[in-house]
Amino acid sequence: MERSQWGTRAGFIMAAVGSAVGLGNIWRFPYVAYENGGGAFFIPYLFALLTAGIPILILEFTIGHKFRGSAPLSFFRMGGKKLEWLGWWAVFVSFIISCYYAVIIAWAMRYTIFSFNQAWGTDTEAFLFNDFLNLTVQPGQTGGIVWGVFIPLAIVWIITLGILLAGVKKGIELANRIFIPTLVVIFLIVVIRALTLDGAAMGLDAFFKPNFEAIMDPSVWVAAYGHIFFSLSVAFAIMITYASYLPKKSDITNNAFITGFANSAFELLAGIGVFAALGFMASQQGVAVADVASAGVGLAFVVFPQIINEFPGFNGLFGALFFLSLTLAGLTSLISITETYVAGISEKFGITRNKAVAFGGGLAALISILFATQGGLFFLDLADYYINQFGVAAIGLVEVVLVVWVFRKANLLQSHANGISDIHLGGWWKFCLGVITPIVLGYMMFGLLRLNILKQFDTETGNYEGYSNMFTLFGGVSVALAAIVLGILFTLGKWHKDHAQFEENK
Ligand code: PHE
Repeated sequence: MERSQWGTRAGFIMAAVGSAVGLGNIWRFPYVAYENGGGAFFIPYLFALLTAGIPILILEFTIGHKFRGSAPLSFFRMGGKKLEWLGWWAVFVSFIISCYYAVIIAWAMRYTIFSFNQAWGTDTEAFLFNDFLNLTVQPGQTGGIVWGVFIPLAIVWIITLGILLAGVKKGIELANRIFIPTLVVIFLIVVIRALTLDGAAMGLDAFFKPNFEAIMDPSVWVAAYGHIFFSLSVAFAIMITYASYLPKKSDITNNAFITGFANSAFELLAGIGVFAALGFMASQQGVAVADVASAGVGLAFVVFPQIINEFPGFNGLFGALFFLSLTLAGLTSLISITETYVAGISEKFGITRNKAVAFGGGLAALISILFATQGGLFFLDLADYYINQFGVAAIGLVEVVLVVWVFRKANLLQSHANGISDIHLGGWWKFCLGVITPIVLGYMMFGLLRLNILKQFDTETGNYEGYSNMFTLFGGVSVALAAIVLGILFTLGKWHKDHAQFEENK
């Protein structure tokens, strides 16, 4: 059977940007930058982007294009089973993330509706935890299903799996070609409106004020690297899978630069918009920006509703546009992570795309119900924390070490990319992948492991968020480990005969 292909170059770029631009750009980047040196953070950030983010993006685009398979299949074709497991590991990390990422999109969808009449009232925090999430159980308990989350969650999965069923060109490409431009327009409106609010300048001051001392601290560099990985969706099997649908004649390097810079541009825009809005709120309440700055769930679902409450005129509309941006940014990322396992299992077992969507996507949707229960937020928080601590950077590290040092494929991949791209890769690319990235990521992993092992045994500092040992072990550590174990188990099986052999994409 012919491999599916993107219809246009722009379609591929939209899809890659759609994957990269996600919740992380809107609710994570602004705060990470603010916390880690403000304006001065751009130095480590750009360094991480240019030495790790874009070089790995080029690497993954090249692998996908050359070997024309899902991440596990591409790795198998590059180095046999000794590499295949890495692809599955990334696929299972993606699988786990997709289970809870979908739930956050469901919240955003629901909050889009809440925005119109500010259904959250004045105490937005109490509303989120008590009224909306109904979080009345202990960490580790599920309680009952929260229907207000379950229903939008079902809609999220219907949309996502529907798009995947429609295929690469008519589904993923078309959806991104509609969603991404819409997102950019809506988000620009939100940011421009935020910039014209009283106090916006104060927020921007806080965001951009450089603290050059901060960048002497290694943890700031680690934060920059960690963020770049998450934000660019590299080391998640995604970019390999997406690049495997590129036609033979495709520019690799240029596309990687465009994707990387587009993602950063969006992030910067989000930082400006979020901090302008925070400055407005701080000035309304007569407090410092530092007192209202936050990230993640708290920023989006507690602080933003407050901002919307204080908003002068048309606040329902502003709120709805903000949450719609989150929804769209999230959906395009969810589509990309789900595609990693849809592609992987359909190739491994030789089943049709539709069956793979039904099995893989269906299973993820079922598991995601866990996060739509009363105790769902605790499970979500824990899975997210451990998967990020031991998934992403670890896979990136193993990937560069295996590809560059153990299997020594850098030259082969470089000449493949150079054969088809405008921008030619030189020694700098191999140096970034083979030396800089492993050193920084190695240092980072060592620190994270040490910290988390200490926490697990130290009764004084306690675990992450003070969760019990049982809960962190079963809900977090074992979830992160399960991704590797399942990855190895899947590697043991044989590839379906249609995929065991292939003709290289020259
Ligand atoms: N890059 C996405 C973001 O910034 C997050 C993401 C990570 C999406 C991994 C899919 C997989 O939010």
